Amino acid sequence: MANVVVVGSQWGDEGKGKIVDWLSERADVVVRFQGGHNAGHTLVIGNVTYKLHILPSGIVRKGTLSVIGNGVVLDPVNFLDEIEQLRAQGVSIDTNNLVVAENAPLILPLHANLDQAREEALGNAKIGTTGRGIGPAYEDKIARRAIRAGDLADRDLVVAKVDKLLFHHNALMRGYGRTELTRDEIVEPLMALAPKILPYVGTVWKILDEARKAGKRILYEGAQGTMLDIDHGTYPFVTSSNVVAGQAAIGSGQGPSAIDYVLGITKAYTTRVGSGPFPTELHDDVGQGLGERGHEFGTTTGRPRRCGWFDAVLVRQAVKVNGINGIALTKLDVLDGMDELKVCVGYRLGDVVLDHLPASSVEQEKVVPVYESLQGWRETTRGARTWADLPATAVKYIKRIEELIEAPVALLSISPERDDTILVYDPFTD
Ligand code: IMP
Repeated sequence: MANVVVVGSQWGDEGKGKIVDWLSERADVVVRFQGGHNAGHTLVIGNVTYKLHILPSGIVRKGTLSVIGNGVVLDPVNFLDEIEQLRAQGVSIDTNNLVVAENAPLILPLHANLDQAREEALGNAKIGTTGRGIGPAYEDKIARRAIRAGDLADRDLVVAKVDKLLFHHNALMRGYGRTELTRDEIVEPLMALAPKILPYVGTVWKILDEARKAGKRILYEGAQGTMLDIDHGTYPFVTSSNVVAGQAAIGSGQGPSAIDYVLGITKAYTTRVGSGPFPTELHDDVGQGLGERGHEFGTTTGRPRRCGWFDAVLVRQAVKVNGINGIALTKLDVLDGMDELKVCVGYRLGDVVLDHLPASSVEQEKVVPVYESLQGWRETTRGARTWADLPATAVKYIKRIEELIEAPVALLSISPERDDTILVYDPFTD
């Protein structure tokens, strides 16, 4: 297998950073294909912690090419800041190991302004976005007025596009009672950044095509999770991009046949940041315990994550809409010491039991989980290196999950440490 896509199968924060880092050691190229700096991937290597928002996880590995595809929305200020932060931690970054697609749309300060103005106006009905301008930037892409990374080489084009953007955005700012922006406020800072950004800009689809022809291993690194997908998630409480595996092809300029294996990162319980339906959410001590033991605070916003039982119905749906071949089950150790574990196996909606999450947001709020109860384990799973090191009830829990979600466990992660990973199937070599 040469090309692997990693996606989150819940609401993000499944522990993708660690698994992607683990796989990126085996990859020649790591590609981000959607989202922006709303993502937060934490890598722990030795005793150094790296926090990434926009740069692909391969960036911390020597000899790996990191690629930001056209499906990503790029904030140039955040991009350059993150490069500097990582350099300060000793990571070497230059145009030999980092490329940005020339057709990737840019996030400008006016996008974050609009994101925040909208959220404020929505009050209690807010989406709970990261406030980073992701949604408004994608809107401008679809509305065909976005400034793209390669445009920075042409000042006249940037000025013309800024005028077009301001015509639209200032009308909205007036509506929200906010201060309007001027052309110079946008153009001058952007053009000052241009010479620093342009050296990284390249023709990504071509670079990836050549890498593929040369037999390189390519890892496509998804951000967020399936239930935050603009089409397949809990709409409208979603992010503004397609996060499912098919987007890896579109968001990097490759065909669907470029993908050999889809790995779904799946937490051994469920969490969600921001608003929206969450059928198995726990509002009691059990939920609080999961949050504390799992250190469930958002990497990007620091907000506490909502916690709940494992939802097999939701993950099975993610397996189907992504074409997941196998999952990496993460944070199993957070369940250590619990007597009973519940797993959602269906949703009751009125008189019927559903085997999937309905698309209607009204029904998503109404469904009541049908639980199956499983025995927990008292022992610690930390430090386990093989299946045989795990308590028998932990193995039973995993096997039942595999059965319910209709996908096998390829990797099992039992702590943030890289070595605490049990490999069942190597997506790159098996
Ligand atoms: P946005 O992506 O900032 O527009 O936020 C939309 C929704 O996606 C909110 O509920 C966010 O909390 C959620 N979200 C965005 N990025 C991430 C992520 O990387 N992990 C988890 N949730 C995220």
